[in-house]
Amino acid sequence: MDLQYFLSWRVALLLLLMPCGFQSVSVYILNEDPVHVISGTNLVLRARMEHEPQEEVSMVTWEREPETGSASGRMTLAKCPGKSGKCAGTKPHVHANVEQQETTLQINGYNNRVDGGLYSLTVTDSTGAKATVYCVVREYEPVHHVSVSINVSDSSLVCGEAWGTDPHFTWFHERAAISQSVGRVSLDGTTLFITMTPICGHFTCMVSNKLGYTSATYSAAPCETEGRGMTAAVVCLVLLLLLVGGALVFVLWRRHRHNNRGERLQEHLDDNI
Ligand SMILES: *[C@@H]1O[C@H](CO)[C@@H](O)[C@H](O)[C@H]1NC(C)=O
Repeated sequence: MDLQYFLSWRVALLLLLMPCGFQSVSVYILNEDPVHVISGTNLVLRARMEHEPQEEVSMVTWEREPETGSASGRMTLAKCPGKSGKCAGTKPHVHANVEQQETTLQINGYNNRVDGGLYSLTVTDSTGAKATVYCVVREYEPVHHVSVSINVSDSSLVCGEAWGTDPHFTWFHERAAISQSVGRVSLDGTTLFITMTPICGHFTCMVSNKLGYTSATYSAAPCETEGRGMTAAVVCLVLLLLLVGGALVFVLWRRHRHNNRGERLQEHLDDNI
């Protein structure tokens, strides 16, 4: 009896709460936050709106304010009355539209000085319920100031980069990819733990992103490479062969001359007799 009483209360509570839960409109920005935009390209923000079937979106408002500082710098970029679809933009390079459950804001020829900041999207439904989401938009920066420094205490090289967007690190030793005999690269790519001894040659860290790459090199003492040793061995062998060959030629020549002189002496004696 007690349990039944308890359950009926819970069901009643759920029934009471459910309409409230569905009444509010909700909205999600589909871009990854923060959004990084290459200068001069188009910024496109997309958002998904969800609301109760019997309600309608009555207003979609895209706004922007400076990422840091007061909200007084807030400006409206586009105001779209729900169904009619036509949005009123405030600038010629700004376009917005509303379609079914999605809304899009497009800014052509992104210029970070003007277009960077904290974007917000507010969706209002016909009951007056509102939902707001935010999204930071910044410029996609090229790779800056790459440097490589050595940490002697654990024989590692650390690659640093200043403020490029989404930097990707790649290491090379003497222009070749890092093999197990040279070292191991950390998961984030920034550190190379050197296992080779002694540490020698050129270690290069290349940092790249969508806009290009920059590299820096750490130079240790030159390596006594196997290749160089081989060359020396070959040169020594050739010299040795030349020496032996020369000696052989000399011996043969001496013997030949000796024989010739013997023959000539014989002839001379024959003539005189
Ligand atoms: C060098 O490596 C050691 C050991 O991993 C670490 O504790 C130390 O902070 C590093 N030094 C620098 C300057 O990064």
